[in-house]
Amino acid sequence: MSPQEALRTLEQELARGLELIAAASTIEEMEAAEVAALGRKSRFSSVQRGLRSLSEEDRREVGHRTNEVRAALRDALAARKAELEGDRETSLLAADRIDVTLPGRRLRPGSLHPLTIVQYEIVDIFTRMGYRVVEGPEVETEWYNFDALNFPPDHPARTLMDTIYLDPRLLLRTHTSPMQIRTMEAQPPPVYVVVPGRVYRNEEITAKNMPVFHQVEGLAVDEGIAFSDLKGTVETFYRALLGADRKVRLTPSFFPFVEPGAQVDVSCFVCGGEGCRTCAFTGWIETMGAGMVHPKVLQNVGYDPERYTGFAFGGGYDRLAMIRFGIPDIRLLWESDVRFLEQFQAAG
Ligand code: PHE
Repeated sequence: MSPQEALRTLEQELARGLELIAAASTIEEMEAAEVAALGRKSRFSSVQRGLRSLSEEDRREVGHRTNEVRAALRDALAARKAELEGDRETSLLAADRIDVTLPGRRLRPGSLHPLTIVQYEIVDIFTRMGYRVVEGPEVETEWYNFDALNFPPDHPARTLMDTIYLDPRLLLRTHTSPMQIRTMEAQPPPVYVVVPGRVYRNEEITAKNMPVFHQVEGLAVDEGIAFSDLKGTVETFYRALLGADRKVRLTPSFFPFVEPGAQVDVSCFVCGGEGCRTCAFTGWIETMGAGMVHPKVLQNVGYDPERYTGFAFGGGYDRLAMIRFGIPDIRLLWESDVRFLEQFQAAG
């Protein structure tokens, strides 16, 4: 290698190296450029190794230029490296950036649970008729759930309403009827209230039954209330809820806290009374228990049974919701699966 050749190579390698370094756009490319420009197999290195074979004078000149070229390449590498690392930092920051001027993400509105839809409709109809809405405790005393409602301690009617006892005198209410007592105790007549809420019974879990379900209770106590008022009220209610051509049928039944007691059936709102699977081909759907408030119950709350009479009714609305919305299994009401829940729309 002549000194001229060596100097030429150095200039070429400087130019090539600077180009490579400038072109590197990642740290990895930059490292590759460093190896190509200054690595052991680079032409720069072979010039450096060839210095030994030059005369002392040439060696000084070429060696001097070799040092300059190395320093220039190292400076360029360091500068480019700093640039690239800065870029990385900048790009990390960019990924983290929040653009506060972007439009907000809209929250999808939820929808009412089918039971809530039906409950609101029921409550609406009664408030239009002048009833007040009250709610009561789900953990109830034995006294309000049974005794005050004229269920004697060993009456078989209690067995039909088996539930969870929290202690011997405290239970999960089996019906909304205890609120009849609580309401009357809290105020003098007249009373017009409806009570929607959860109730509990020892039931096996099946497609049709759950140990927790919903009832709405109604209570009207005033002077001169007759059985015909009960019939007119439940008829008005079911026509508003299920269609103007619904018929209502009352048949005798027993509940210790009413006398006389009745079972209220409504003509099937699926087949209109013709007979279909929903009404088990009877044309009628059993909806609630009802009757005239028992004089003993009025006495229990300190009302004068000679002056006041009243009626009460109470029934579940899980089944009404199921028929209305075509829900085949009551357990769906409890699974909270959004794909199920988002299908329901309140009427009107
Ligand atoms: N509470 C009774 C039940 O759950 C229904 C009922 C309410 C009956 C009001 C008469 C009067 O079976």
